[in-house]
Amino acid sequence: METGLPPDFGKENPPMIDHHGRNINKLRISLSEVCNMACTYCVTSLSDHKRAPDELSMDQMLSLIRILKDHAGIEKVRLTGGEPLLYPNLIKVISGIRDLGITSIGMTSNGQLLARKAKALSEAGLKNVNLSLDSLDPEKFKRLGRVGKLHKTLEGIEECLKYGLRVKVNMVVIKGENDEEIVKMLEYGVARGVEVRYLELMGMGPLYKKDDFKLVYMHEILERISERYTIQPVSTDSDSTSLRYWVPGGFFGIIPNNSAPFCSTCSRLRLTSNGQLIGCLSNPTPISIRHFLDHPDPSVPLQNLVKKSISYKQDVAFTGSTLVMSRVGG
Ligand code: 5AD
Repeated sequence: METGLPPDFGKENPPMIDHHGRNINKLRISLSEVCNMACTYCVTSLSDHKRAPDELSMDQMLSLIRILKDHAGIEKVRLTGGEPLLYPNLIKVISGIRDLGITSIGMTSNGQLLARKAKALSEAGLKNVNLSLDSLDPEKFKRLGRVGKLHKTLEGIEECLKYGLRVKVNMVVIKGENDEEIVKMLEYGVARGVEVRYLELMGMGPLYKKDDFKLVYMHEILERISERYTIQPVSTDSDSTSLRYWVPGGFFGIIPNNSAPFCSTCSRLRLTSNGQLIGCLSNPTPISIRHFLDHPDPSVPLQNLVKKSISYKQDVAFTGSTLVMSRVGG
C-alpha cells in the first residue's frame, strides 16, 4: 500500500542502501594491524605491520560495532586484521558481538594460532573461518609467507572442522609461485568439505603499479581445473564477491578481482582498528567515527558518514591502491 511516507519511516535501523541499490550490511573489522606472517604480496617485511598508535580498546570496539548495528544497518561481521588470533581479547570480542544480537560472525586468519583456540572460538559464537593458505608445500608456504609453518595452518583447519566451524580456504594464485598447485589445493579442499577460493592477485600495497605483477587470470584457473575435472557454474548470493563452481564431490570459488570485478555487488564496509571507516579498497579515504563513542544519539550524523564512506566505492572495477591489506583485511 502506498503511504506516501519515506520507506525508512518508523524504522530505527534503516538499511544503508547506496546509489547502486547495494545494501551495505557487512562490516569487516580489523581488530589490530599486527600480523605474524609477512606474505610477499601483502608487505615487504614483517615490520611493515604496525599497531596503530591509537588502536581502540576492546570496549570501544564493541561500542562502535553496537552503534553501527543499531544505527547503520550492519548485520554481518567478519573479524580480520592483521591477524585476529593475535588479539588478546578475541574470544571476548566474539562473545560480545554475539551478545549484541549479531549472529553472522566470521573471521579471516592465517591459521597459525588456530588449532588450540578453535573450540573456544566456536563456543563464543564464531560461525566461519576463511583461512589464507597459499601452498600445501612447506617450503613454498614459507617462501610466500616469509614467516609461519604450513602444518600449523593445516592443524588449525582440522580443529575448526572438528568443532563445527565452516571453513573456506583463500589461495592467492601467483604465476610461477603456486599456480602448479591449483588442482592439488582443490583436491585438498574437496576431501575435507572445505571450499577453496582462488583469489586473483590485486595491485595493492607493495604490488601497486608494479610491472612484474604475476597475475593468474580466472580463465587460466578454470582451464587448469577443467583439464582434470568436470566443472559447472552455480549461483551465488547476490552480494557475493566470488564466482562459484561445482566439481564432483564439492565446490570451489574464484574471486576474480581483475577478470570480472564485482564492485557493483560489493556490500562491504570496513572498520579499522583505530575507528575509521573505509568504504573501498581502491579509494581508501578513511572516515573516523570514533567520536561517536561519546555521542548520545549518533543516528543521522553517523548515517551521513557511513553514506559518505560508501560513496567512495568504485562502480566497476578495483583500480589498485597503496593501501596495505593488513590495515583492512580484505
Ligand atoms: N591480492 C589478492 N589477495 C590478497 N590478500 C592479501 N593481499 C592480497 C592481494 N594483494 C588476501 C589474503 C587474505 C584475503 C583477505 O586477502 O591472503 O586471504
